[in-house]
Amino acid sequence: MTMLRLSLSQAHIRRGLLSSAAKSPRLLNPARLAPSLSHQSTAGMKVLAVLYAGGEAAKQEPRLLGTIENQLGLREWLEKQGHEYVVTEEKEGPDSAFQKHIVDAEVLITTPFHPGYLTHDLIQKAKNLKICITAGVGSDHVDLNAALGKGIEVLEVSGSNVVSVAEHVVMSILLLVRNFVPAHEMIERGDWQVSEVARAAYDLEGKVVGTIGAGRIGYRVLQRLLPFDCKELLYYDYNPLPEEAAKAVKVRRVEDLKEFVSQCDVVTVNCPLHEGTRGLVNAELLKHFKKGAWLVNTARGAICDKDAVAAALKSGQISGYSGDVWNVQPAPKDHPWRTMKNPLGGGNGMVPHYSGTTLDAQARYAVGTKSILENYLLNKPQEPHNVIVGKKGYETKAYGQR
Ligand code: NAI
Repeated sequence: MTMLRLSLSQAHIRRGLLSSAAKSPRLLNPARLAPSLSHQSTAGMKVLAVLYAGGEAAKQEPRLLGTIENQLGLREWLEKQGHEYVVTEEKEGPDSAFQKHIVDAEVLITTPFHPGYLTHDLIQKAKNLKICITAGVGSDHVDLNAALGKGIEVLEVSGSNVVSVAEHVVMSILLLVRNFVPAHEMIERGDWQVSEVARAAYDLEGKVVGTIGAGRIGYRVLQRLLPFDCKELLYYDYNPLPEEAAKAVKVRRVEDLKEFVSQCDVVTVNCPLHEGTRGLVNAELLKHFKKGAWLVNTARGAICDKDAVAAALKSGQISGYSGDVWNVQPAPKDHPWRTMKNPLGGGNGMVPHYSGTTLDAQARYAVGTKSILENYLLNKPQEPHNVIVGKKGYETKAYGQR
């Protein structure tokens, strides 16, 4: 029994599946360090951070670390060492501070919540750039192939907000299945007509729930769904879970995507955005969903086709869509996902991109960002699980099969 428990934990740790990794991302596999990431650190370098404007809230709440006001808590530490720290929210267009400073910055820090899109063209202009750090998880805002071509490393704080997102996913599944949002709106309006909201409310018990992507977040979602007594839990991922890990959450793998979605009452998307997942959930795939299924996407907006999702919800092909990620961020005021509804006037659980930026998560990714920077400055090896693109290639298996 002890042996089984040990090997189960080891299998989980290998794939970053244990929750301790989320609480303490620096502690994941500390012994396995990547020697290929060494470089000569530069004195007086420029560190450029693209963060979101926190306004009054950030002045009142210093734990909003991912904002231009609180600057990931790095300014004093960096300036004491003689480095220049440029922090901006301006990220669009050639006159933006991001595009001006990227030309000679050595380090770029961005958050997925307010992504500075580091395109192929910008990478060609970034003459001095050595390392991109994602303060959070998900580095699709960087053209990873272009970065690799120029020898720029891309790292993220793996595990830093995976519990935060997994909790949001479970909440989003429940709010769609139980038809929560229209029920709450009815109360705010001063109305009380139970049948109007009960006609689209179900139990999660007895439903089939499947995750596209069973990595750190996907697996945590499965763990959290276990006590709901779903009819079945499924996953679709080209990286199979270790047998013991799959057994522990009673999940079955389905290898064909169309077959997978056709079996699910609820589909949750938990894979990174890359060439193989952009537009993965499109009009064609949506036809294979069970009629009236619910779709939750907290991974990346562009994994789901914006117009196809809006049309499927409007027609009732899906009953609900919920998540916090958008194909463009901030989302334009007229983005269809802000207001789309199912034929009964509900089924929309969209919020701004914040599931992975709880105050708890911000504390973790600020610490993790500093740790990556510290390793870079001291010419120390990085922790392998944080490296998306290293000097020689992709060091993660999560950004597509290569
Ligand atoms: P992870 O790397 O631990 O797991 C990702 C899994 O997706 C891997 O098992 C990988 O094999 C699988 N995958 C990749 N391509 C796939 C495909 N085509 N089909 C099926 N599975 C595929 O990553 P983690 O920590 O679970 O995060 C996943 C993503 O969630 C991030 O890349 C990011 O985009 C998003 N995220 C969103 C946040 C938010 O605030 N909304 C916060 C953190 C992450």
